[in-house]
Amino acid sequence: MRSLLFAANWKMNLGPSDARSYLATFLKAYAAQPNRQVWFFPPAVSLEAVAMGLGNRADVLAGVQDVYWEPKGAFTGAISAPLAAQAGAKAALIGHSERRHVFGETDEQTGKKLAAALAAQLHPVLCVGETLEQRDSGQTLAVVKRQLAAALGERAATARVTIAYEPVWAIGTGRNATPRDAATVHAAIRAWLEQHGAAETRILYGGSVNLKNAAELLAEQELDGVLVGGASLDPQAWVELVRTAVA
Ligand code: PGA
Repeated sequence: MRSLLFAANWKMNLGPSDARSYLATFLKAYAAQPNRQVWFFPPAVSLEAVAMGLGNRADVLAGVQDVYWEPKGAFTGAISAPLAAQAGAKAALIGHSERRHVFGETDEQTGKKLAAALAAQLHPVLCVGETLEQRDSGQTLAVVKRQLAAALGERAATARVTIAYEPVWAIGTGRNATPRDAATVHAAIRAWLEQHGAAETRILYGGSVNLKNAAELLAEQELDGVLVGGASLDPQAWVELVRTAVA
């Protein structure tokens, strides 16, 4: 049986008390499923509430949405990987498209953040993906490979990471890639990973994944799971999505 990862990116939603009531509903409704992992990426202020709420269940964990590359010091407003780990994070989103395109994060900064996450024993989920303009001009694979190379570089063969392919034009727009389109890019990412000695790396798809399209996306063998924003914010709907039957 394929092993699947369902990752919930709450973005700037669900503060600590919202997170606690979300988890109460989720944990009551969701029993562990064979070969399924559920990872939650709450905003940093809710990290500790989520990590504590999830307890020691082996199939669920909490992660942070972003980290700064320095471990500590005079960086007002920033959160480092060791601080996130202390609050209970086991994973970190790195280079999410909103970090890249809303906050202007560069490939180089993404690489430094990935290294910082690894150093703090957080499992990085490296997000890559092209803009609509880049897709329309035929640059999708070149962009994705550039982002992989910049963040992973020489580390590719040794670092344990997960990749999330999220076309920027599909995020929060209701416009998802067709399963075939997603699978084509996943295959190119897989080929890049194989060339760099990291064939076992998991590759998730993200961008307007919801209850309606999850089954057909996950039917593609190239997808090892999904990274979900909007459709992860309601605990009941998320439970249903995580239970999606996959052929
Ligand atoms: P979305 O977000 O599911 O709301 O499109 C996905 C993401 O940005 O990780």
